[in-house]
Amino acid sequence: MKFSELGLSKALLKAVERNGYEEATPIQAETIPLVLAGKDVIGQAQTGTGKTAAFSLPILETIDRDDPNIQALVISPTRELAIQTQEQMYQLGKEERAKVQVVYGGADIRRQINSLKSHPQILVGTPGRLLDHMNRRTVKLDHVKTLVLDEADEMLNMGFLDDIEAIIKAMPVERQTLLFSATMPPEIKRVGVQFMQDPQHVKIKAKELTTDLIDQYYIRAKDYEKFDVMTRMLDVQAPDLSIIFTRTKRRVDEITRGLEARGYNAAGIHGDLTQKRRMQILNQFKHSQLDILVATDVAARGIDVADVTHVFNYDIPQDPDSYVHRVGRTGRAGHHGVSLTFVTPNEMDYLREIEKLTKVRMLPLKPPSAEEAFTGQLSNAESTVKELVEKTDTEKYEKVASKLLDQYEAVDLVAALLNDLTKDDSTQVPVKITPERPLPKRKGGHGGSRNYRGGHGGGHGRGGNNRRYGKSNDNHRRYGSNKDHRDHGGNRDRNKNNGGGKHGFTIRKKD
Ligand SMILES: Nc1ncnc2c1ncn2[C@@H]1O[C@H](COP(=O)(O)OP(=O)(O)OP(=O)(O)O)[C@@H](O)[C@H]1O
Ligand SMILES: [Mg+2]
Repeated sequence: MKFSELGLSKALLKAVERNGYEEATPIQAETIPLVLAGKDVIGQAQTGTGKTAAFSLPILETIDRDDPNIQALVISPTRELAIQTQEQMYQLGKEERAKVQVVYGGADIRRQINSLKSHPQILVGTPGRLLDHMNRRTVKLDHVKTLVLDEADEMLNMGFLDDIEAIIKAMPVERQTLLFSATMPPEIKRVGVQFMQDPQHVKIKAKELTTDLIDQYYIRAKDYEKFDVMTRMLDVQAPDLSIIFTRTKRRVDEITRGLEARGYNAAGIHGDLTQKRRMQILNQFKHSQLDILVATDVAARGIDVADVTHVFNYDIPQDPDSYVHRVGRTGRAGHHGVSLTFVTPNEMDYLREIEKLTKVRMLPLKPPSAEEAFTGQLSNAESTVKELVEKTDTEKYEKVASKLLDQYEAVDLVAALLNDLTKDDSTQVPVKITPERPLPKRKGGHGGSRNYRGGHGGGHGRGGNNRRYGKSNDNHRRYGSNKDHRDHGGNRDRNKNNGGGKHGFTIRKKD
């Protein structure tokens, strides 16, 4: 559907065009008119389908620039996502000259207080820092007309709920409430509707919860085998940009160091790094100065980096929703992506649980042997040589080239070039990743491992008929995604422990 049919002003249509959006995505087409009409909306659609613009555009349409109060508040689970959303809203609101600001933890609060003096109409923030500002009375929410909980199921999960409730209490009862996410377990929806009036649930119908733009694979491997298998996969597939999700911060650090030792251009982010460092690394990744981002779930939700081709779940996520968000960092805005999930033999039940939720069968992949990894590298090198030949100005090099051809056989010269473009089996460089406590054995039923959410119950068929054995005919391809239940704390503004942990997982809280 065209944006011009949605009731948006000329200024916003111009912004949409400037952003290169040709057509509204289904979630945009369905929710924008409802939000403009002032309805409370739950907007659910697959990852990477433009939910941010779906709530941003109607908000920008309705704010009053002459009113100095905060009129719309967007709450995000992580600092990185809050910053990204503020940037996108600012971009879309340029023609409207809308003032959009962001507050998040780990950054100088005085500077934020100073910028808040310019009276933004729209504020984006993480819960902890928002509450901090509210307590200092540097953020007042008594004129908020629209509240958005982005990644709403995460924001309404136990870890965040108290904060969200406290923030909502400071807002007028008469307001519009919007919840957006790719996943919305029924138990969480029940919590959400308590804050809403006559909510409309817009759920973009799709056979699968994950987008069919992602080819999803899994590899069975023992924990200690994963690193070698992964670097071989990287060699075979030579992904442009990939994200590797792991379960713990320690693993992020160790995997990053291991990748560097084997010659890959990687950096890691997790909650123990300074916010400055986190942003620096994410920006480098966004600008393709890094090939591989290693991350805990701090990067799992909402983060939009164009052209991420591969998501690896170095550790399978315990929570199936988490899988959906992690793999959703690829296959965005119509691009194709690949996910590869490592699963240890005793974690197969977790894999099946994920498949039940997504209704997609992951394809098994065989770990490549050293020989296969080398063949893969050679085939990549062959393509590189072809590209090089095409873009080389032969005349410029002709003299030396002829001289070399006099001295050597042509085949030796090309072999030397291929040798330079490939590397020795990367597993020759020994890397040891400290073993982590395995996921607890699933106890048969549904959602036994989930806090609060209580699992997705029956409801989700076995995937049988919905199997999609990939667009790719090549069964021996690569990668996937995963999540961390022990790392969220690092993002917190306030160190609140919500208990849990008894079974190797804790109730989640991010900021
Ligand atoms: N109508 C459109 N046409 C083309 N691209 C779009 C359109 N709307 C949004 N995009 C782009 O698609 C990408 C994904 O959008 P966005 O981050 O809003 O997805 P999302 O649905 O919120 O995903 P997630 O569930 O992962 O948060 C962004 O780069 C955005 O600029
Ligand atoms: Mg989003």
